[in-house]
Amino acid sequence: MTEHDIIDRLSFLEKKVIIALRELDCPTPEEVLTEAGLNQLVEVMNAASWLQAKGLITIEEKITRKYSLKSSENARKELPEKTVTRTILTVFNGKATTSQLKGSDTFKPSELQIALGWIRKKGWGEFSKEGSDTIVIVTQKGRDALDTEGEDERLIKQLIDGDLMEEDVDMDAIGQLKQRKDFLSERLVTERRLALTESGSKIAALDIDIKEEIGQLTPELIASGGWRDVEIRRYDVKAFAPVIYGGRRHPITLLIEKIRNAFLNMGFSEITGDYFESAFWNMDVLFTAQDHPARELQDTFYLSNPDKVDLSNDAELVDIVRQVHENGWKTGSLGWRYAWSLEEAQRTLLRTHTTVNTIRRIAEDPKLPFKVFSIGRVFRNEAMDSTHLPEFVQIEGIVCEEDANFGMLCTLLKEFYRRMDIPKIRIRPSYYPYTEPSLDVEIFFNDQWMELGGAGIFRPEVTEPLGVHAPVLAWGFGLERLAMPVWGLNDIRDIYISDIDWLKKMPQV
Ligand code: PHE
Repeated sequence: MTEHDIIDRLSFLEKKVIIALRELDCPTPEEVLTEAGLNQLVEVMNAASWLQAKGLITIEEKITRKYSLKSSENARKELPEKTVTRTILTVFNGKATTSQLKGSDTFKPSELQIALGWIRKKGWGEFSKEGSDTIVIVTQKGRDALDTEGEDERLIKQLIDGDLMEEDVDMDAIGQLKQRKDFLSERLVTERRLALTESGSKIAALDIDIKEEIGQLTPELIASGGWRDVEIRRYDVKAFAPVIYGGRRHPITLLIEKIRNAFLNMGFSEITGDYFESAFWNMDVLFTAQDHPARELQDTFYLSNPDKVDLSNDAELVDIVRQVHENGWKTGSLGWRYAWSLEEAQRTLLRTHTTVNTIRRIAEDPKLPFKVFSIGRVFRNEAMDSTHLPEFVQIEGIVCEEDANFGMLCTLLKEFYRRMDIPKIRIRPSYYPYTEPSLDVEIFFNDQWMELGGAGIFRPEVTEPLGVHAPVLAWGFGLERLAMPVWGLNDIRDIYISDIDWLKKMPQV
């Protein structure tokens, strides 16, 4: 921008302030107000802050102490030590005892106390004891003091004329006045001074043409045709403006949408399920042994009301699953070889994974081929820390088709994470009771490998009872764990803390 462009973009008030600054050396806003012939200090300050934002002036702030008298009536009275000294000289010939002085009606007893204190401090009197009485003899200094004006008295006079700033006063005298009760008040005031910057001085040196401008075109101006004669202030599209944040969707909602689209685009359909489940569907159908540690109360939230469900609608499957657990049924497996308990299977719980959604989907309609996914909340009875939440969202899915194989599964997982902008994942062997082979997907994040989820091919113990004889590729990933590297979060809990600043700044795409 040339200097002329800069001048062009100055408002009427800004121009006035710049011109005033040509004449004054580091003035206060009040001085600028007078010099520029403006009406209100806010006009100066408004223009000044814009000029400061444009780099044309600086506004220096200095905090100083300002002194004023608490009561000027009090201050107009003679200092009590003077009155008392004079009384000792004139009434008692220069020497008096405190009891004599107490009898005087020229001052109050409380004033006498204060006066004696100051006489001692200022060396106006010599004090000695006589029995229980104290004698005061006025010194030469005391005599001289009566005809001269002390530093403190001079300061009081100045203060009667008006408040004083720190730099204009004698600090010793201030110190003395501060010791007197209810006399002086001290306030901190901010003093501002405006000064042209180097580029401001260049602008100020040029010819600045001042015209009254209007900032807003009103209906009246349009109707009357008055707009023809006024100068309208031009917009500065580069001017600083506060960022305004409107309502927006939670980043998790947006991430879920992105995941949903990724699967839909890969030809999957979406399925859902309930939070409330039976142990049978959540675990037994998935060939998870009834004494498996994941079934323990400290890992699973069991419900007490209702504490069991009736499985009679699924009686046929229940009987097959019992046999699968006990002896492998027709799957070729030996099973877990224990006595399976219907009671254990009837227990109610909050689903611990969304694998229950996909397994129910297979049971409902086992006709091949199909591929489905679900995104849903799961619950685990475990302690919260920087990578664990007791409630989190799982991204689940299965591919059911005749020729599905492990290579397809790995490719699919990599492709999904690539679409989530995670180019590099690690796949390593793992164990789940319902898959063989099983794998875990990990990402290198914050200097260590973090598990994103598990996957595998459902075992025949899982698929055969449901009438599926083909390999089923299955996986379940954590949504929040995925969000961590995507958003660069070190703590998983930050996602749900709802820090307004964070929410405002998260990109909406
Ligand atoms: N259900 C497993 C979990 O919650 C993930 C998984 C799903 C593993 C499907 C293998 C197959 O961690």
